Amino acid sequence: MDRLIITGGKRLSGEVQISGAKNAALPLMASTILCKGETVLSNIPKLKDIMTMSEVLANMGAGISVVEGNCLRINTDSLINREAPYELVKTMRASVLTLGPMVARFGCAKVSLPGGCAIGARPINLHLMGLEKMGAKITLSQGYVVAKAKRLKGATIYCDISTVTGTENLMMAAALAKGRTIIENAAREPEVEDLANSLIKMGAKISGAGSTVIEIEGVDELRPINYTIIPDRIETGTFITIAGITGSNILIKNSRYDHIAAIAEKLRETGIIITEEGDALRVIGPPIGTLQPADVRTMPFPGFPTDMQAQFIALTSMASGTSIVRETIFENRYMHVAELKRMGANIEIEDNIATVRGVQRLLGAPVMATDLRASASLVVAALAAEGETIIDRIYHLDRGYEKIEDKISNLGGDIRRVKGGRT
Ligand code: EPZ
Repeated sequence: MDRLIITGGKRLSGEVQISGAKNAALPLMASTILCKGETVLSNIPKLKDIMTMSEVLANMGAGISVVEGNCLRINTDSLINREAPYELVKTMRASVLTLGPMVARFGCAKVSLPGGCAIGARPINLHLMGLEKMGAKITLSQGYVVAKAKRLKGATIYCDISTVTGTENLMMAAALAKGRTIIENAAREPEVEDLANSLIKMGAKISGAGSTVIEIEGVDELRPINYTIIPDRIETGTFITIAGITGSNILIKNSRYDHIAAIAEKLRETGIIITEEGDALRVIGPPIGTLQPADVRTMPFPGFPTDMQAQFIALTSMASGTSIVRETIFENRYMHVAELKRMGANIEIEDNIATVRGVQRLLGAPVMATDLRASASLVVAALAAEGETIIDRIYHLDRGYEKIEDKISNLGGDIRRVKGGRT
């Protein structure tokens, strides 16, 4: 398994280009199932999860080619109704995003139930409830969900929890349903809005995306499109915390301020200066040792995102005071804390609350990545820690960050990847 070796304490400088958003790319790739023809998606990050979704689509007969690095051509002329197999779904839960489009296009879908994952049980009951409301017959057999419907029909669906991929799955299914669907308490994340915008370009009739009530008037047919996805707001936030903890002055290019407003507001409280420069952000971290503590509660968009919680804890582990973090979205999203404590952080967890007592310094140590954003928090901490940190199991990191060691090296960070188990 690859490892990252990081020697902390360097002040960074220069520019970093943010990649396309993983969590926008995945539903958009799944949406190509909804129509025949060739879709061209641009600004697609080169990530493990993108490769996995490509495998899921190829397994169904889609023709996929990578053009000039970050552009995907997906041809679904010869798509056949094949299940999304367990061995693929278990590596990436977002494969469940093929469920809605497959029922809508083929009238039947068979997708492995995603197992739990490190950060929580993450059930898909709301996805299934919504499809049932639209007339699908749902059965579970041998770990697979089977959904059948001659043609889905519009329905009013109330999600008692706002679910990002649930909203996306139901919006895609409703796009080809007969009649009007209303999704209430819909997720407002920018990735949901990006999917809606691409579906509208395909010919779907959707209004309200980005708000908590989305209306979809089903149509009979959609057409393939060319589309460029939004930048990754979580990668942007991650690089802001990197600049903050290392006292650096960097320019973050290709970012959408409206997608990171809550992140920026909260991180400004710690003393980080963030100013917009066109489609870039100028980020200046406070001098080492002067980071301020701040309290945060993770919330659905437009609140502070759960995907930034681990990076925020790493940052405030070196603040001059105590920060209180409440994780309200997932039930087990503090696995990075044990690893950060190995580096000298002083953090206590009780229920869903982390009490982060800032320390003067972190010390490099061998640590282990446990999930995608936990691994990002270890990189943040290692860049400020004294000495060398070895981060193991960075396949977690590769799921969501494109060429992160190149990006950090280009900023002057001392980071290298070691292939396999050798250090
Ligand atoms: C999406 O996951 C993201 N993944 C996650 O990003 C992100 O952390 C999460 O949204 C929250 O913002 C993708 O977009 C591919 P949810 P998702 O459904 O859709 C409960 C990353 O780091 N729930 O919004 O799976 C669920 O258990 C990943 O990039 C149900 O109870 O999350 C959770 O407590 C990690 N039943 C809450 O809702 C359901 O049917 C929010 O989950 C669905 C969800």
